[in-house]
Amino acid sequence: MLSGFLRRLFTRCPPAGRQLGLLREHEAIAERHTRVRAAWAPHLAECRKVVLETAARCPQRRRALVIGAGDCLDVPVAELAERFDEVVLADIVLSAEVRRWVRKMPGRVRGEVWDASGALAALAAVRETVTATVAPDFFARADPGPPPGGLADFIVSANCISQLGLVPGHSLPAYEQDTGLPERCARAAAKRHLAWLAQQPGVRLLLADAARLDLGPDGRQLKKETLHERFGLPKPDRTWRWDLAPIPEWSPDFHRVHEVGAWVWPEHPDGTRAGALSGLPG
Ligand SMILES: C[S@@+](CC[C@H](N)C(=O)[O-])C[C@H]1O[C@@H](n2cnc3c(N)ncnc32)[C@H](O)[C@@H]1O
Repeated sequence: MLSGFLRRLFTRCPPAGRQLGLLREHEAIAERHTRVRAAWAPHLAECRKVVLETAARCPQRRRALVIGAGDCLDVPVAELAERFDEVVLADIVLSAEVRRWVRKMPGRVRGEVWDASGALAALAAVRETVTATVAPDFFARADPGPPPGGLADFIVSANCISQLGLVPGHSLPAYEQDTGLPERCARAAAKRHLAWLAQQPGVRLLLADAARLDLGPDGRQLKKETLHERFGLPKPDRTWRWDLAPIPEWSPDFHRVHEVGAWVWPEHPDGTRAGALSGLPG
């Protein structure tokens, strides 16, 4: 209780992020991590490893940008700061953890409140009245603008793409009449994010959910749903499992597991091919 209070005290989030449910979601992730820390550890370690392996491809090491930095659970902040002149940790929520890193490594680590969707302020302004038909267009047409902190030699989109439209979509009153709205917002926001990434120079790494699985108590697969194809993404370059919600976290009957993927652009370290991002819808 007290830690939740202190967390909020040291966390910054613009009004649009609060109104569209993103501060609450940030807190829910932190609370779940506290409950199932051991189950998440292998996934978080794999993310940090992939980030550093991909960073090694960067011919220039001036600036690294992490989008969706959150509490930096999946971000090897100190190691990135050893390799790059500057590390920018961006999120719609500036967490106490990011602020701790900024204090610890002044001049090398920066925290930026930044809306990667570019849609939140405009959507929050019409939150009460926007219809389920129109809301996804806010994400499709938004302009996130230039990268926070300036152009980067390395960009990591850190397990945030699926949230960009989904969480705000759930928070809209129009959702009560149309339960398909969050998914449509999620698709629109994800495609816009991919188009934005495609415009950026440098090496880009996308960490995102590739599939969702339900496993019985004995580990038997009960259900599997592919997730990345709905965003127009090709097969990931690499995958691993994330024990997101072990029994009874989500359900008393099944473990909720995600297959997480890593997509890297350009595909070749010499940058000769634009890679899969170039084939994505703009
Ligand atoms: C699943 S968490 C990622 C975890 C985070 N990388 C970590 O290690 O703690 C998704 C993150 O995306 C952020 N996010 C959601 N919508 C965003 C937006 N429009 N702009 C920037 N960040 C956003 C959330 O605040 C959250 O921190």
